[in-house]
This record gives sequence, structure tokens and C-alpha cells, in this order.
Amino acid sequence: MAFFKNVRRLLGATVLTLFFSLFLGSCNKEYNIPIPQTVQFEQNLSAYNIFQGEMKNLVPSSDFYEIELSSILYSNYAKKQRLIMVPSGTIVTENGNGIPVFPEGSILVKTFYYFIDETNETLGKQIIETRLLIKGQGEWNVATYIWNENQTEATLENNGLDTQVDWIDAASDSRSIDYHVPSQNECVKCHQSVSEVMPIGPSLRNLNREVVRNSVTLNQLQHLQSEGVLNSFDISGISSIPDYNDLSVSLSDRGRAYMDMNCASCHNPDGLSEAEKKGFDFRFETELGDTKILKKKDLIIEMMEEGRMPDVGTTVIDQEGLDLMREYINSL
Ligand code: HEC
Ligand code: HEC
Repeated sequence: MAFFKNVRRLLGATVLTLFFSLFLGSCNKEYNIPIPQTVQFEQNLSAYNIFQGEMKNLVPSSDFYEIELSSILYSNYAKKQRLIMVPSGTIVTENGNGIPVFPEGSILVKTFYYFIDETNETLGKQIIETRLLIKGQGEWNVATYIWNENQTEATLENNGLDTQVDWIDAASDSRSIDYHVPSQNECVKCHQSVSEVMPIGPSLRNLNREVVRNSVTLNQLQHLQSEGVLNSFDISGISSIPDYNDLSVSLSDRGRAYMDMNCASCHNPDGLSEAEKKGFDFRFETELGDTKILKKKDLIIEMMEEGRMPDVGTTVIDQEGLDLMREYINSL
């Protein structure tokens, strides 16, 4: 008897374990991929020597390069600085129009700040957070650092945080918002492709634009090549995404460029499965007929008006972005 009881117990336990692993397994697939743990993040941002001189001036150290994107993610009106670093003796390698291959140990940095008064930038800025993507053992790891009030240091925060931000906008209006710093779980919602964490911004098509360096206007890919950061290849084969704020660009390209950075990180065939199963593909290069935009025109605008999309990270509606999307969707 005792033997059978034990077998029953064992069987019960196995069935239970199976049930739970299936259940949890499907949860992982539904909501999130595991957070990569191949890099041990430092407690303090200063340990990375990203900035030289006083940290708050955001002057990059010599091995961090500033990059500029044509199409950007709206984040509650925050201004952003984007930097990349590849270990010396290594190089980023072209991989078509998409995200190039970054070497082991690469660091991608994005710092979020507000000018205290946008009409007078000399009054200084309030830096909120610095997000990092670090490649270790072939995997991209995510972390964010929250700046202290004196703006002398930023510390690791993996669980997300809400904080109030006040500033004066370009129209001299006082603004106050509840700013949300994403948790690691939220980072990987947007930064996933199939089951891997991936960078989103620095695709070659999004970097393929003019920039000003040392008072000279030049192509950014060419500049990165001449700095020895990007491998040398013929850049004339690389396509480009427009800046959605550039009024000289066609409305359809502006609308799609906006959706590429603000919606497609989740809504693409390899994105977050909860979003992917809605069947949208909002990437810039996808033919309109395959995006499913035409089938859900009203719902797209409704979800944006109600602040329900984007799903994570936005607490204040992007009014200019919404206006652009209304104009674009109504033109279809
Ligand atoms: C709502 C989606 C979303 C969330 C949430 C999000 N990101 Fe991003 N992130 C993006 C997009 C889109 C870009 C590229 C566009 C840009 O920089 O404006 C980006 C850019 C970055 C970059 C610059 C390199 C790159 O991939 O372009 C870093 C570093 C980064 N994110 C880290 C993080 C970390 C760390 C978190 C969590 C604390 C996080 N992100 C949360 C969407 C998101
Ligand atoms: C952080 C990931 C993420 C981002 C970024 C995002 N979405 Fe979504 N979206 C989702 C998820 C998850 C769902 C499904 C759950 C839900 O409906 O809330 C969804 C659902 C939707 C739906 C409803 C589809 C249906 O048939 O029910 C629409 C429309 C939509 N998103 C549009 C957008 C637009 C437009 C943007 C950009 C402005 C955007 N989304 C950005 C994750 C995202």
C-alpha cells in the first residue's frame, strides 16, 4: 500500500510540475522573455566612465561616440542623448539595412533629461535616467540608472520607478508629469526580437543621415567608418528612414517612420508575442497592404487617443505624434 501511495504521490507531483512548467512556460512566451543575466551591472553609473569631467555636463569620454537617429521614440517629451562604445580593437559590422553586429563588450547608452526651461537652455537640465544595453557572452543585457538630485551620480534601478518631473516648455508653459522609469521586465518587452534582447535604434537605415561633426556636415555612416567604429563597405546600398518631423517628407513616409520607432518595436512578426498575435507589422519597410493598418484605422487612433498605446513607458500622450497619425491615417 505504502508503495502505491508513494507512486501516486510521485505521479501527482510530476503531473503538478508538468502542469506548472507548461503554465509558466506559456506565461514566459505570452508576456516576457527571460531577462539576460550574462553581465554583472555596476551599482554606480560613474564606474563606466561614460562621461568626462562633471557627469552632469554629459560630455562623452573619448571612446563613446554620439549617434543621431532619423526616427525616434517619443518618451514623455524627454530629450535624449545616445552613445555607443565598442572595446578598442573591435568594430561594428554591417548586416544589411537592419541592426549591425556589435562586438562583445559593446555598450549602448541613452540618457533622458529635460531642460529646466526650454526657452532658456543655459538654465541647465534635469537628468532623470541613463539606460544601458551591454553585450556579454553574445547576449544584450538591460539596466537603467537613476540620477541623484545633485546630478553627480546615478544608481542602478531594476524594478522601475515613478517620479514627478517639472519643466517649462518651448511655449513657456509650466509642465508637470508623472515620469515612469521602466523596470527590466518592461525593457525587454520592447527590446525583443524572437527570443533575444536586441537594440532598436541604431539600424543602419536609421543612422543613414547627415550629422554635423567638428562643424562639418557629413553622412553619419561615413563618419562612423572614418572613426573606425563601423567596418568599411559601400554605404550607397543602405536605405534610409526619414525624420517624421521633417515636413518636406511625404505624409505617408512620416506616418510610417513614426510607427516604426513608436509602435513596431512590439508590433512586428518577431516582437512581444502578446502584441505580435494582433497581426500588425508596423515596420517602415513593410508594404502598407501587409501592415494591417487599413483594417484597424479607427482602433489605432482610438488606442492612441486614450493613451493605451504605446503599451509601456508613456504617461503623457504624444500630442504632436497623435496629430501626425490622425493626418496620416485619415489620408489612407
Ligand atoms: C516602449 C518601448 C521601450 C521600452 C519600454 C524601453 N525601450 Fe529602449 N528603446 C526603445 C526604442 C524604440 C529605442 C530606439 C529609439 C530611440 O532611441 O529613440 C530604444 C533605444 C534604447 C537604447 C539605445 C540603443 C538602442 O537600442 O537604440 C538603449 C540603451 C535602451 N533603449 C535601453 C533600454 C532599457 C535599459 C530599458 C528599460 C529600463 C528600455 N530601453 C525600455 C524602446 C523601448
Ligand atoms: C510595449 C509594446 C507595445 C508598443 C510599443 C505598442 N503596442 Fe500596441 N499592443 C501591444 C499589446 C501587448 C497589445 C495587445 C494587448 C492590448 O490590446 O492591450 C497591443 C494592441 C494594440 C492594438 C489593438 C489591436 C486589436 O485588434 O485589439 C492596437 C490598435 C495597437 N496596439 C496599436 C499600437 C500603436 C498605434 C502603437 C504605437 C503608437 C502601439 N500599438 C505600440 C503592445 C505594444
